[in-house]
Amino acid sequence: MKILGVDIGGSGIKGAVVDTKTGELVSERVRIETPQPATPEAVAETLKKLIEQLGYSGPVGCGFPATVHHGVAFTAANIDSSWINTPVEKLFTEITGNNCYVLNDADAAGIAEMAFGEGRNVQGVVMMITIGTGLGSAIFVNGNLLPNCELGHLILKDDIAEHYCSDAARQRLELSWGKWGKRFNKYLHRLEFLFNPDLIILGGGASKSFEKYADKIDVRAKVTPAKTLNTAGIIGAAMYAENMIAQTQKTCSKPVAAKSKSESAGNGEQTKDKTASAKSKKVKPAKN
Ligand code: BGC
Repeated sequence: MKILGVDIGGSGIKGAVVDTKTGELVSERVRIETPQPATPEAVAETLKKLIEQLGYSGPVGCGFPATVHHGVAFTAANIDSSWINTPVEKLFTEITGNNCYVLNDADAAGIAEMAFGEGRNVQGVVMMITIGTGLGSAIFVNGNLLPNCELGHLILKDDIAEHYCSDAARQRLELSWGKWGKRFNKYLHRLEFLFNPDLIILGGGASKSFEKYADKIDVRAKVTPAKTLNTAGIIGAAMYAENMIAQTQKTCSKPVAAKSKSESAGNGEQTKDKTASAKSKKVKPAKN
């Protein structure tokens, strides 16, 4: 399928139409500055502009720099705090007039690398770390994603890890690649201690300069820059949209089974999930 993938970041919103079978970009890659302040409405309007610029109509996958549960943003570390609890999928769908499917940006990048990049056919524990304004993270076990893990927020050297060694920290503190690489290596050691990954894939802006700090990295796991580099987020977002469409179609064609007593009783968490999916029910089915 050809689906528009969008990577929403702290400084730029980037998008291109992706062939989800091959992972190739089949349109030009458009980048628009993230509006400041990056409020929900301003970002949604910019997304609309990007879609129009590409002359696209159809489902849209969006990687978003926050945890996203059933289409609702729950955090806002590097974006406007008004995003917290915003039904981002619903908002983007309403403003753009296209069905939007939203997931965490690092999860999107990881999905692309597992399908078409360095993680392809790799079993065991694979971690994707994106290095940009923040530190994004995704964990895959035998190819299966654990969504919304926030390992950029581990405490390292009495600081939040992403404040200590994101690419924004490197620029803010004017660190050489070598000095920054030593910091980042400490972070990788912490991840290795906690998760024992077999492979660590680096994405985001700083992954393009890997050779400038590779000699500072000495964890046991193999560490490699993403093959899809900074298009990973776009490709993975488009793949996520395709998956969600397929899932919705499966659910819709399933006969409704009677609920068991325990299923209908539920607990707090399930109630929250139901509320969220009730919200996403308002999303129109994809026109494809
Ligand atoms: C956010 C993550 C996001 C990462 C990269 C962090 O500040 O908490 O959700 O994946 O930045 O954008």
